[in-house]
Amino acid sequence: MNDNLHQLRCFGCGSRIKGTEAQADFRCAQCGDLFEVEYPGWQQRRGNDRPNPGALKWLWRERRASSEWLDQSGVWRFRELLPILDSFGNAMTLREGNTPLYPLFRNARALGMDQLYAKHQGMNPTGSFKDTGMTAALSVAKERGFEWVACASTGNTSAAMAAYAARAGLRSLVLIPEGKIAWGKLSQAMDYGAVTCQLKTDFDGCLQLLTQIVKESPIYLLNSVNPYRLEGQKTPAFEIAEAFDWNVPDHLIVPGGNLGNSSALGKGFRELHELGLVARMPRISVIQAEGANPLVRSFATSEGMEMAPVEANTRATAIRIGNPASWRKAARVIQETGGWCLDVTEAEIAIAKAEIGAEGLGCEPASAVTLAGLKKLRAQGKIAASESVVLLLTGHTLKDADYTIDFHRGTLLKEEEAAGHAAEISALRRNAVAVDATSAAVLAALKESVG
Ligand code: F0G
Repeated sequence: MNDNLHQLRCFGCGSRIKGTEAQADFRCAQCGDLFEVEYPGWQQRRGNDRPNPGALKWLWRERRASSEWLDQSGVWRFRELLPILDSFGNAMTLREGNTPLYPLFRNARALGMDQLYAKHQGMNPTGSFKDTGMTAALSVAKERGFEWVACASTGNTSAAMAAYAARAGLRSLVLIPEGKIAWGKLSQAMDYGAVTCQLKTDFDGCLQLLTQIVKESPIYLLNSVNPYRLEGQKTPAFEIAEAFDWNVPDHLIVPGGNLGNSSALGKGFRELHELGLVARMPRISVIQAEGANPLVRSFATSEGMEMAPVEANTRATAIRIGNPASWRKAARVIQETGGWCLDVTEAEIAIAKAEIGAEGLGCEPASAVTLAGLKKLRAQGKIAASESVVLLLTGHTLKDADYTIDFHRGTLLKEEEAAGHAAEISALRRNAVAVDATSAAVLAALKESVG
């Protein structure tokens, strides 16, 4: 391992260890908190010793035109800021990252804004943002000689891990909560050849059990407690800054589940700022589902200082997490950037998802909490019409097609959940209609649809 280029620093007690010294569960032996990757080579130097911002920006853009695999990856083209491998030749990439930043014209207009964008991480090889983290951490696993990797998952991490493990020739073990993940994601883990165990517990129970298992066997843990995952997941921050010509947007809105992603994006922007590549950090807000909102409660009761786990329940199954591992890191990102932490209801998620779909983009339910949260922040006067806002869409709409179909068929929401939203829902629903195979019948259906 390239121990002279990086080290791990405990987020809780600040103690530092070499990358190879981490325990199997990636918890600090002193205080039990999680680690962050640090790069003393450039983080602690001053002045001329620091990487040259102009040269880096030029190099990273040049690589987009390169035909080298590593350069074509939206993670590894930024490799100067993630020197976590002994040799970049060991990087296992599926050409992840470099995802589109789409303007959301209609949603912007509806909110009276003119700079609203979606960074669509669902446009990654396995359909979610997890690929950017997986290429980093799986490459570390491979370089360190592990034969088995494992994760607990609400579906997307397992899909990403199984794919990257298969490409690298490693075996993978997936623990998922039985009946509580979307079929599309489960099918990916099977397709990519993972050993998939459905457990009669929730995500938090799966992660707890896996933590025990990795301590007993030579299996490399690939949940986002693994700090190398966050190194890959910080790179969309670089892409966003680059897309804004190194002037960051005013505000970034991210869904919150296990809270690794918000932590990683905050780290990405923090590093750009420390290195002088951008002049400031954007505000970063985290949105949770009302039924899985431990961080929201933590801010309400202790300003993000203490967190009590909750029993999680939401149909946005990707973020059905009651005891998020990275909550302290995410709380710091919200605090240091002046962001907010709020929750949204099941109906608000479903409506926002249909509105993103109606823009021709689509996303999975967990991603749609970002738009639902933005609407709330606008209504509360916390985001001005003139601000530039980026919504981080974490997963592809095909990840959970059942949810979409149930919404459009009118079977997704219970009556009490939909109460007060009937008009919005009926304006968005586009159910498939059964008609006779005649042009008259099809044209009649068309007429009916336009009222
Ligand atoms: N959005 C999607 C689509 C997700 O799959 C997840 C997490 C999140 C948001 C939340 O991100 O956990 O970093 O705060 N999915 C994990 C999984 C837990 O197992 O796939 P987070």
